[in-house]
Amino acid sequence: MLSLCIDNFKTINMENNIDWGKLGFGYMKTDYNVRCYYRNGKWGEIEVSSSEYIPMHMAASALHYGQEAFEGMKAYCGKDGKVRLFRWEENAKRLQRSARGTHMAEVPTKLFYEMIVKTIKLNARFVPPYGHGASLYIRPLLIGTGAEVGVKPAKEYMFIVFVTPVGPYFKGGLTPVKIAIVRDSDRAAPLGTGDLKVGGNYAASLRGTVKVVSQGYSSPMYLDSCERRYIDEIGAANFFAIKNNTYITPKSTSILPSITNMSLIQLAEDIGLKVERRPVDIEELSTFEEVGACGTAAVISPINEINDMDKGVVYKYCKDGKPGPTSLKLYETLVGIQYGDLPDKHNWVTILD
Ligand SMILES: Cc1ncc(COP(=O)(O)O)c(C=O)c1O
Repeated sequence: MLSLCIDNFKTINMENNIDWGKLGFGYMKTDYNVRCYYRNGKWGEIEVSSSEYIPMHMAASALHYGQEAFEGMKAYCGKDGKVRLFRWEENAKRLQRSARGTHMAEVPTKLFYEMIVKTIKLNARFVPPYGHGASLYIRPLLIGTGAEVGVKPAKEYMFIVFVTPVGPYFKGGLTPVKIAIVRDSDRAAPLGTGDLKVGGNYAASLRGTVKVVSQGYSSPMYLDSCERRYIDEIGAANFFAIKNNTYITPKSTSILPSITNMSLIQLAEDIGLKVERRPVDIEELSTFEEVGACGTAAVISPINEINDMDKGVVYKYCKDGKPGPTSLKLYETLVGIQYGDLPDKHNWVTILD
């Protein structure tokens, strides 16, 4: 077993020739991925592969009928050289919900954990050392591999975990972003799959994303697809707002329950904020003191500007282009817990041996 202590990291990282401070948020090949197959009604043995490719039947249900779900999580190296996972059980639970919601075989929690830890350990030389704001991104993926031509759930599945080192989302601290409201395409339907982490939602979101990114915005704001009145999501992140000492975040059947948001809600309560989880009308945008998007990738992206292009209205938030004090406090607290710099009062962190 590879030892994850600081001395090993130092030598291993030097051999790597990776400039940890320059890492972006993208794919880098690592040494191994870990796979497991579901056949004849049960999960088999864990397999290790060094191939980046998946041999698959051309009629696999993942390819034709979108039977696939994934997760996104990170491993963080602390000052002590120990590698930490953040609330991994929540990712396991969410993948199980996504599997149930698309009639796929569920990955048992124990198997999920074993495969994640194995993948990290086999790729220990890619865990970015403390101090660069970088981390090891973990991508668990569940796909229907059974061949089906009619629309029905597959009988066979593959669960695969790969990792890739990623840099901080915003180099040099939190950078406020510009968002545009999208009304001519929807990401998800009220009783569709918007609350699951399945590929189809991301394919549906590309029309809005490409449209606003080409106009200089970082992400689209999606509204509820029924009335186009309530805020759903900001690209691939949840929305939150701060007003009158209150943390406000949308409640909707078509948004993905973000583990970052769930954690920020707790931290907001810890610092004495009230929390409101309720439909958030876009009419309220002019009343908020701070607004932001949250998710694993960036933790918090403070929002400086929201452009409602159809109505010709622009909402502005950040003074001198700086994030608001509450967003900053929440960001620093959450990141501090993830890297082990602050006490883990809520038992969110698992330290790997
Ligand atoms: C659509 C969507 N919403 C929200 C989130 C944020 O979720 P989390 O905080 O669990 O990363 C993500 C990222 O996973 C996402 O893809």
